[in-house]
Amino acid sequence: MEQIFDSHAHYDDEAFQNDRAELLQRLPQLGVCCVINAGASLESSLASARLAEEYPYFYAAAGVHPECVSGIPEDYLATIRHLASLPKAVAIGEIGLDYHFPDMAPKEIQRRIFEEQLSLAAELGLPVIVHDRDAHGDTMEILRRYRPQGVLHCFSGSVEMMREVLSLGMYIGLGGAVTFKNARVPVEVAREVPLDRLLTETDAPYMSPVPFRGKRCDSSMIVYSAAKIAEVRGISSHEVLEAARENACRLFRIPK
Ligand code: NI
Repeated sequence: MEQIFDSHAHYDDEAFQNDRAELLQRLPQLGVCCVINAGASLESSLASARLAEEYPYFYAAAGVHPECVSGIPEDYLATIRHLASLPKAVAIGEIGLDYHFPDMAPKEIQRRIFEEQLSLAAELGLPVIVHDRDAHGDTMEILRRYRPQGVLHCFSGSVEMMREVLSLGMYIGLGGAVTFKNARVPVEVAREVPLDRLLTETDAPYMSPVPFRGKRCDSSMIVYSAAKIAEVRGISSHEVLEAARENACRLFRIPK
């Protein structure tokens, strides 16, 4: 059986409210060996910590997502610091910039919250899980200054940008998007990324790979993304999953 490492999921999401316990009992039987549940708000960072406490194969990341920066309390960093210090917390995330929707928080506020959390990660010696949607320029400018350990999750940049991310020492997270019909650039990235810098992920309940596109995603579906990555590289899915698992264990300091 394959060992699937999902480096990015949101099982606290309400999409799982009716069958969460049942699903999370079943995933290990489907080959899922590890899940990092990413925080998005203070509430979901707390929920991530609880899931990590309850399920042996779960680990938690604590962070405020750019979509959730509006109205966060001034002392939010103290909460993140506390949650990030729990035994199964392995990263600060997800954090970053999202310029996709015009009604998001102003860019300067997003940048400030992103930078404050990067500073915290540096102070705590933790890797970061970075969200970058339609904000490549500012994301790279900030990453160049902070040089964190971590991953660009759901990587949507060019091969050229990927090379710069790699030169900073960071990892590339790839998920369902590589299977989409219009996925030209993600497929190029999947072909070019060095095998020792690739992480597999879902972003569950979002970003289901083909043939489940549009349905609720769960970590077992990573086999479809891995198969696509394997196909464009001319290697086996097993090699992709094994490399991604080793990489994630190395980055997040999780025993193999
Ligand atoms: Ni996410």
